[in-house]
Amino acid sequence: ALMANRDLVPGPARTQDQSKASNSLVSTDGFHNEPDTDPALPANRAWGRKILSRATGSKFGTDEVTQATISNEATIEKVLARGVELGKTWGALPAEERANVLDRVGQLITEHRAELLEVMASEAGKTLDQGDPEVSEAADFAHYYAERARELDSVPGAEFVPSNLTVVTPPWNFPVAIPAGSALSALAAGSAVIFKPAPQANRCGAVVVGLIRRALQEAGHDPDIARLVVLSDEQRLGERLIADSRVDRVILTGAFETAELFRSFRKDLPVLAETSGKNALIVTPSADLDLAVKDLVASAFGHAGQKCSAASLVILVGSVGKSERFQRQLVDAVSSLVVGLPRQATTQMGPVIEPAQGKLLDGLTKLGPGESWLVEPKKLDESGRLWTPGVRDNVKPGSEYHLTEYFGPILGIIRVKTLAEAVRVQNQVEYGLTAGLHSLNMDEQRYWVERVQAGNLYINRGITGAIVRRQPFGGWKRSAVGAGTKAGGPNYLIGLGSWKKSKYRG
Ligand code: SER
Repeated sequence: ALMANRDLVPGPARTQDQSKASNSLVSTDGFHNEPDTDPALPANRAWGRKILSRATGSKFGTDEVTQATISNEATIEKVLARGVELGKTWGALPAEERANVLDRVGQLITEHRAELLEVMASEAGKTLDQGDPEVSEAADFAHYYAERARELDSVPGAEFVPSNLTVVTPPWNFPVAIPAGSALSALAAGSAVIFKPAPQANRCGAVVVGLIRRALQEAGHDPDIARLVVLSDEQRLGERLIADSRVDRVILTGAFETAELFRSFRKDLPVLAETSGKNALIVTPSADLDLAVKDLVASAFGHAGQKCSAASLVILVGSVGKSERFQRQLVDAVSSLVVGLPRQATTQMGPVIEPAQGKLLDGLTKLGPGESWLVEPKKLDESGRLWTPGVRDNVKPGSEYHLTEYFGPILGIIRVKTLAEAVRVQNQVEYGLTAGLHSLNMDEQRYWVERVQAGNLYINRGITGAIVRRQPFGGWKRSAVGAGTKAGGPNYLIGLGSWKKSKYRG
């Protein structure tokens, strides 16, 4: 909101950003989140249109990707050996020096907001409104982990021992923020990084790693401390890489099954993973129903529902389940969403990353017993990537739709009589990532907070879009594997190395 004109002022306005800080209930310790672009300003809209006009499958970053492609084991061996060596040097530096590199990466990310938005739109189908906060989040990760790194060197009586080598395997759905956050956390904690992007977002990954490498080089370090690796044979070479005992840790964001697969490669491998979710938002009769519809639609259909944090279920309590007004508003809001490619400025919901198939296609086309479409999804083009959003009604607790993650633009409605029943239904899934409650009743809020089983709880707001430092992000149950610390939170780095007693006190 502070950036009147992104063209004239591409850099950050960090010190002026009081807009978010002033809403906080806790002190932000001088840390300010990067402001997003305000689309209400005509200059920003013009800036956005220019970006989108270039986002037509640009070749941005392609060369870097090609150069980095690895197709044989001999090259993997070299990358591993070099990684360990560089990790040792990098980890031996004072944390302050590493932190300075991270701060510079944060600056570069902000300066390259336009390029990042362009590659996210053209490669990953992200609309500007979805991509913009992701750039802010990536910059936040850099500055926040820089601060946390500085603390690592000043713990009384304890010495942090960095790991040498971390493999980072990020997802395609947040192709800038999660790659940046994962790689930068490892670097902040003194480890070299081998970065293997998701195949659907190789170019986004290449740009992020490119900025990290630039900051390393500018500060006189070897850029190979962060190394992009694109594997020509994902499965075979991936196993070769991860199973190697020189790899100290894998930071993964992806399906729970992928974390299991990684662990099957090597039993003693520490995997730190943020995995799947099946998240529900409860709406009680005391809720502000207008706000509930707005937050629900944003949480369910932002980035076409392709977020581990997305609302895939809404649980309506008591009279809300019978409210014609709520139902009409929901139907209107969902069916008026403009679906299209990100380069059309009017698009509100973009494509799914790959032609819908398998489970997602079933979710978009098949109903379970007793279910009906409140809003039926429609395929808009032959590519199979553009679908209008769907709302399925009368989802039964315990049914396939209730318990399964679909990762697409589908929302299911479950009706229950009481809040107690709603929480039971919400907790019935194997996952526990995000959860929401819309209720203006403080007793209901308290009841819910004490019982709900999820990592990130949101009351009277949407359930996606966690903000670094304010809402550290991470789940429990099958939504997390490993240390249980949250990304963008105060403890994330301390699990990325080991600790020993220090010779010095104080
Ligand atoms: N951090 C993202 C969100 O909160 C998910 O990865 O939506």
